[in-house]
Amino acid sequence: MDYLKVIGKKKLNGSVKISGAKNAALPLLASTILSSNSIKISNLPDVVDINTLLKLLEMLGSTYNKNNNILTIDSTTVDQTKATYDIVKTMRASILVLGPLLTRFGHCEVSLPGGCAIGQRPVDLHLKALEQMGATIEIKNGYIEAKAPQGLQGATIVFDKITVTGTENIVMAAALASGVTTIVNAAREPEVVQLCEVLQDAGLQIDGIGSNTLKIVGSNKKLLPFKDFKIIPDRIEAGTYLCAGAITNSILKVENVEPAHLEAVLSKLEEMGFSVLIEENNITLLPANKVKTVNIVTTEYPGFPTDMQAQFMALSTMADGVSIIDEKLFENRFMHVSELIRMGADITLNGTVATIKGTPKELYGADVMATDLRASSALVLAALVANGETNIHRIYHLDRGYDKLEEKLTNLGANITRDKEK
Ligand code: UD1
Repeated sequence: MDYLKVIGKKKLNGSVKISGAKNAALPLLASTILSSNSIKISNLPDVVDINTLLKLLEMLGSTYNKNNNILTIDSTTVDQTKATYDIVKTMRASILVLGPLLTRFGHCEVSLPGGCAIGQRPVDLHLKALEQMGATIEIKNGYIEAKAPQGLQGATIVFDKITVTGTENIVMAAALASGVTTIVNAAREPEVVQLCEVLQDAGLQIDGIGSNTLKIVGSNKKLLPFKDFKIIPDRIEAGTYLCAGAITNSILKVENVEPAHLEAVLSKLEEMGFSVLIEENNITLLPANKVKTVNIVTTEYPGFPTDMQAQFMALSTMADGVSIIDEKLFENRFMHVSELIRMGADITLNGTVATIKGTPKELYGADVMATDLRASSALVLAALVANGETNIHRIYHLDRGYDKLEEKLTNLGANITRDKEK
């Protein structure tokens, strides 16, 4: 197993190119099951989660060729309909094949994802919606067994809670269904928008893209002629590098980003005293005279993303006073708190609310454990400003979602190296 060694207190500077969005690429790869042709996808991020989904698609019968960040994939050859436990257990987002497999083949089995480090994360809303579209669903031996021998039928789905992968699954299921599906209380994340746009470019009629009501006219089992496309930039990776600039109070530019996707994050950085310069697809972060405290409530897009909560908590340890972060989406997404405390942070937790007392407390290096993807990036950020050496263990979590993290940070001037555990 690998670990990261970071020697803190180095100023960063320069620019970093942001990769394609993992959370956009995952549903888009699953959506190739709906296509009638081979597709070229560019700006694919080189992260473990993407390779995991490609492995699953290959097991189902897809063929692909990956050359740097360009993928050519043909899923017309899919002839298996079972997503097995050994792959789903490594990545919950494997659930994204459920909608496309069921709508194309009329049956499928997908291992039920278990709990994960950030909470229970059920998939009940995905299943209920598919049942409303005419599927019969049984949970047997840890598998979701879904059947719709006559195909899925359009329905009006009202989600009780806004769910990102739930919305994506139902959009894909509706694509080959018969009739019209209306999704009320749909997620509006840019990743959901790109999935809808790619399907629209493939000839599917979808109204309301980017709003919380989507209306999809199904193709009645006809596979869709996909066009080639490019994955949108990863707004969470971009936000994480902006926080790296902020926590070290450096000048840092993120390139190849979509600033509109980062509005909530940029406005919190500005509230904390940093300045941001936006030019088309680049954002430059400028240092703060004094880092101010912040109050954050995580919520669905376009609100502040839960996937940036941990990074802002690390950043709040540098603020002059008390910051409050309320995590509204996931009940257990505070695994980084105990690790940040090991580094000297002063954080107290009360239910979903974290209270962070910032400077004059300084952080110091320690051995810490990565627990989930974004919690791990918070530890890297804290390590960048800590006195001395921090060793971050179990970094396979980081590898799931950050493309070439050490290389990118080293180019910005950080002292960060990867080593094997003894
Ligand atoms: C996606 C993102 C993840 C992000 C999250 C919230 C991907 C691959 N992952 O996760 O990075 O942190 O959105 O922005 O895109 N819920 C239910 N029942 C369901 C589905 C969800 O109760 O059937 C609850 C969840 O437990 C959670 C909330 O709804 O409390 C939102 O979860 P959801 O949007 O579904 O998260 P994911 O799609 O899993």
